[in-house]
Amino acid sequence: MAISIKSEKEIELMRESGRILSNVLAELTKLVQPGISTLDIDKRCAQLIKSYDCIPSFLNYNGYPASICVSVNQEVVHGIPIKDRILKNGDIVSLDCGVIYQGFHSDAARTIAVGEITKEAKQLIEVTEQSFYEGIKFAKVGHHLHEISEAIQKYVESFGFSIVRDLVGHGIGRNLHEEPQIPNFIQKRRGPKLEAGMTLAIEPMVNAGRYDVYWEDDDWTVVTEDGSLSAHYENTILITDGEPELLTKPGE
Ligand code: MF3
Ligand code: CO
Repeated sequence: MAISIKSEKEIELMRESGRILSNVLAELTKLVQPGISTLDIDKRCAQLIKSYDCIPSFLNYNGYPASICVSVNQEVVHGIPIKDRILKNGDIVSLDCGVIYQGFHSDAARTIAVGEITKEAKQLIEVTEQSFYEGIKFAKVGHHLHEISEAIQKYVESFGFSIVRDLVGHGIGRNLHEEPQIPNFIQKRRGPKLEAGMTLAIEPMVNAGRYDVYWEDDDWTVVTEDGSLSAHYENTILITDGEPELLTKPGE
């Protein structure tokens, strides 16, 4: 399958999908306080998505049991919301969510501080976020995909943090996961040339310690092998003839 190029009409729907997801994540971010359970966040997420006449794309995806992934501290991604997982002061928590609006997917993630966090945790969150913006400096027509990957990895490693190797970003559109795969690390292939109309979910996952991860017994939750903290930041973007457009613009 080739990488899909979205028409102007499809792009309009992707924009709306992304705008809704940004709102959902902004609402949920306000709930992130000591004392709330990760299941409470999922419940509110499901309500919000429904209120926008959207479908939660993660629910039942390969059997995933919730509308959102909530990953705390050493959990990298795909944390399953549970009643007994109560957020506490000093935690960092990533919210990763996807919606479908009129057949079009958007996908985004934010890592948020719970109360007062350590300086290192704060730096990890900031570097992860900034690495996305370093990457998308190359998200322009004519550049090869690997330039994005390379910029993300170099930025992250310059702070002594590491990039997770076992999970990657992806194209997105009528499906949550489309071609191409978007690694956040350097590979031998330079990858496809970017074209206007491509929509991509770019999502660096950054560990404070080593990059190795393993899957917990629930077969979903990915955690750092060395127990170090991990952060995740993701947006769905559109390649244009100029600067990339953030379809899941934060804070909206
Ligand atoms: N946001 C994840 C991704 O980009 C999807 C989560 S997998 C799910 O691939 F099962 F939770 F949906
Ligand atoms: Co994704």
